[in-house]
Amino acid sequence: MKRIYVRTHGGNYPVLIGRNLLKSIGPLARQLRLGPKCFIVSDKKIAARYLSTVRRSLKKCGFDVSSYLLPYSDERNKSERVLSRLWREMAEASLERTSTVVALGGGVVGDLAGFAASTYMRGIPLVHVPTTLLAQVDSAIGGKTAIDLPSGKNTVGSFYQPKLVVSDIETLKTLGVSDLRNSFAEIIKCGMIRDARLFELLERDGASFFDAVKRGRFGKTETAFLETIVRRSAKIKAGIVHRDERETKGERMILNYGHTFGHAIEAASKFRMAHGSAVAIGMVLAARLACRRGLLSIEAQNRQRALIRQIGLPSSLRSEDYPLKLGLPVQWKKGGHSSGELLSFMKRDKKIRDGKMRFVLPRTIGRVEICSGISDREIKSVLSEG
Ligand SMILES: NC(=O)c1ccc[n+]([C@@H]2O[C@H](COP(=O)([O-])OP(=O)(O)OC[C@H]3O[C@@H](n4cnc5c(N)ncnc54)[C@H](O)[C@@H]3O)[C@@H](O)[C@H]2O)c1
Ligand SMILES: [Zn+2]
Repeated sequence: MKRIYVRTHGGNYPVLIGRNLLKSIGPLARQLRLGPKCFIVSDKKIAARYLSTVRRSLKKCGFDVSSYLLPYSDERNKSERVLSRLWREMAEASLERTSTVVALGGGVVGDLAGFAASTYMRGIPLVHVPTTLLAQVDSAIGGKTAIDLPSGKNTVGSFYQPKLVVSDIETLKTLGVSDLRNSFAEIIKCGMIRDARLFELLERDGASFFDAVKRGRFGKTETAFLETIVRRSAKIKAGIVHRDERETKGERMILNYGHTFGHAIEAASKFRMAHGSAVAIGMVLAARLACRRGLLSIEAQNRQRALIRQIGLPSSLRSEDYPLKLGLPVQWKKGGHSSGELLSFMKRDKKIRDGKMRFVLPRTIGRVEICSGISDREIKSVLSEG
């Protein structure tokens, strides 16, 4: 088991990464001296596989356990309606200030349960047990919680750090191949922004990992590979969050690499394109922009695109380059979106401050910088190449 510490003003906490950790949640929670009640939030699919192990482990250690299950995890559940239902369930379970919310699931469960924990009785302890690759490398670390409003994603939320994050690699074995693939976009991102070694590891072993998984083989090699990339990505996020917890100093913004273009692509697809796929295309576009500005070598640009393709993620706005047919050709507007349309989606992004678009652009593999003052013409020209 590997242990990474996240140090924040909202508290310091360990992220534990390893195999078969679900069985140890009880003893781990006891070590933290958490209060007697635990309230597990999950969804029915995840619960069918993992709830009993978590519940048993907590009960064995003397915790009084209750739970609330979403029918499924979907962005639509990050809503005011579901949140208020959850608050009431928490009150009905007589949760007190010392009770703990255990978020067992992906980013949807984590964001919703995290926000509920941060607001119930002005904040009660929270433990994240991420069960998707995205949640293990990204959403469970860093303390962002949120629900959506009809006007936009993650509009209402809080910064609320958990007491503990338990990432059991074994849970990733039940994920679908396309879920895994889309989460790899965030891992490639981590390599590009901070970790050339991680990037090289993905270049070396990424394609064979997916070959094996597609053939239904998820053995020791694949698990060890996942464990390494989860650990390296989690470490990068933990370091960035430590230095810029509330995204006020600029550093946390680098986690947005590929997302300025990516969010626009996601929005243009009416959120039917997977986030990871949109970010993959976003990274290709950001690298193209960097290359044109003389910030990045063509060789590094090509290496990034080659890796994205090797993993099986889309590397261009053109649907014929979308290898997985995850839906883009049908969902993408016929004939594609014009660069002007995509630019206007970019300008609607909530991360834009004072009307100024800032881009995270790569300098080399493993290093990025933040650039502003890029003209609309430059952006459109990058988009028009597809
Ligand atoms: N808080 C943050 O910092 C942050 C960062 C990135 C993303 N997010 C949020 O995360 C959400 C996306 O999260 P996600 O990608 O984890 O998806 P998700 O939570 O929607 O889960 C995807 C699917 O996987 C299923 N699932 C979960 N674990 C499983 C397992 N082990 N085996 C089989 N199926 C499993 C779920 O039931 C669901 O159907 C978005 O709402 C996004 O806004 C938050
Ligand atoms: Zn992302």
